[in-house]
Amino acid sequence: IYSRLINLLYLGTPGVGKSLMSRLLSEKTGLTWIDVSKFAIEKECLEEYDEVYQCPVLDEDKLLDQLEGLMCEGGKIIDYHGADFFPERWFDIVFVLRTDNTILYDRLRDRGYIGKKLEDNIDCEIFQTILEEAKSAYREEIVHELTSNDLNQVNENVNRICQWIEQWKIDNQED
Ligand SMILES: Nc1ncnc2c1ncn2[C@@H]1O[C@H](COP(=O)(O)OP(=O)(O)O)[C@@H](O)[C@H]1O
Ligand SMILES: [Mg+2]
Repeated sequence: IYSRLINLLYLGTPGVGKSLMSRLLSEKTGLTWIDVSKFAIEKECLEEYDEVYQCPVLDEDKLLDQLEGLMCEGGKIIDYHGADFFPERWFDIVFVLRTDNTILYDRLRDRGYIGKKLEDNIDCEIFQTILEEAKSAYREEIVHELTSNDLNQVNENVNRICQWIEQWKIDNQED
């Protein structure tokens, strides 16, 4: 029996639709969506800038400190591309979103990604890097791979997740 509300983790290569699905699920359930990249900027958890990847490097310890209290309350949807440094105990269900390479390529190009950054992100999706990372970081039975190629799939996934949340409440919480 858990003493906190459910916490969910959305993972996946940039562009697979984590933020879109997190926002919709948050609107539907009332759970609080935390986009970790934005949260890290707001809470000043960034170190130097990586010139090759054109993105800032995270101060992971500071970020974990900032998130700890929120995660202990529960009721959070965490949205981030990597899982390897979050404590396992934070999450009850983990979703890894997947998108076909050609669709992802177009989404990332529309977002302005070019060159090495674009190619590396497509490789990351092809090699299932984040799925493997999630499976090694969390119990396999709580890791769910979801496809997010079109908007119908987004709605189907959100509805399915709402059902999982209801089931989790039945299984884990006293009334
Ligand atoms: N399943 C989908 N079908 C169509 N467009 C999508 C889908 N998922 C995401 N998008 C669009 O692709 C872009 C990237 O989505 P976003 O949620 O920002 O990805 P992430 O947070 O994983 O980087 C956004 O413009 C979003 O509206
Ligand atoms: Mg995002």
